[in-house]
Amino acid sequence: MMDTLLKVENIQTYIGQYHILQGVSFEVQRGEVTVLLGRNGAGKTTSLRTIMGLTPAAEGNVIFKGNEIQHLPTYEVSNKGIGYVPEDQGIFGELTVEENMKVAMKKQDGETKDRMAWILDLFPDLKKFWKKQGGNLSGGQKQMLSIARAYLNNNELILIDEPSKGLAPIVVEKVMESILEMKQMTTILLVEQNFIMASRIGDSFYILDDGVTVENGRMNDLVENEQMKKKYLGIA
Ligand SMILES: Nc1ncnc2c1ncn2[C@@H]1O[C@H](COP(=O)(O)OP(=O)(O)OP(=O)(O)O)[C@@H](O)[C@H]1O
Ligand SMILES: [Mg+2]
Repeated sequence: MMDTLLKVENIQTYIGQYHILQGVSFEVQRGEVTVLLGRNGAGKTTSLRTIMGLTPAAEGNVIFKGNEIQHLPTYEVSNKGIGYVPEDQGIFGELTVEENMKVAMKKQDGETKDRMAWILDLFPDLKKFWKKQGGNLSGGQKQMLSIARAYLNNNELILIDEPSKGLAPIVVEKVMESILEMKQMTTILLVEQNFIMASRIGDSFYILDDGVTVENGRMNDLVENEQMKKKYLGIA
């Protein structure tokens, strides 16, 4: 049975004078990985930022668990149970891995400690470099720290923006496998231009083009649709 966790309806977002999102709509089903695809500048990052209230929508609705959240400030969106792993990872370079994790913890209860243990098993590098400053981690380790931090709190939905960006293929593989593991525990909205990764993790997809949602469907169908991949994603 379909269980819609997040519904984005015809959002319109301006940045300054620019009308960036001109009708973006999509749905995220609980327990699935939904992937937002589209060329550079299509509006993928802005869509995630709009959900988080960082670039609020001027029109349209963002509905999380049946409630409108499009007018909420970012900290309230976060408190509703939506985690965000931004494109630039947003970790504190001056703080150690340990401090980055502790700053992110909203609670200190047993459940959070269990989640901490689970995520450190998934990313043993973080345990290994526990006392290292965030700024001195490798690109892949920074990505893992950023994902781990979003996972720590009991988020029902995690938004992840281009986790493969700038990473070596072997590290991309590791990040991909960990997202597949996390999928057992939480729902994920993923922006990912690496189509191999997107197609292996994703259950459903939406394609954005020039700030508008143009296509959507099940990921399996997109994998076989050469015409659509070529038209919107530039994949020959
Ligand atoms: N602060 C800003 N000021 C002006 N225009 C912006 C700003 N941020 C984004 N844009 C524009 O909004 C459009 C959508 O940008 P966005 O970052 O959402 O795209 P994207 O799909 O995430 O692209 P990429 O794949 O390159 O990350 C682009 O045309 C971009 O130039
Ligand atoms: Mg982006």
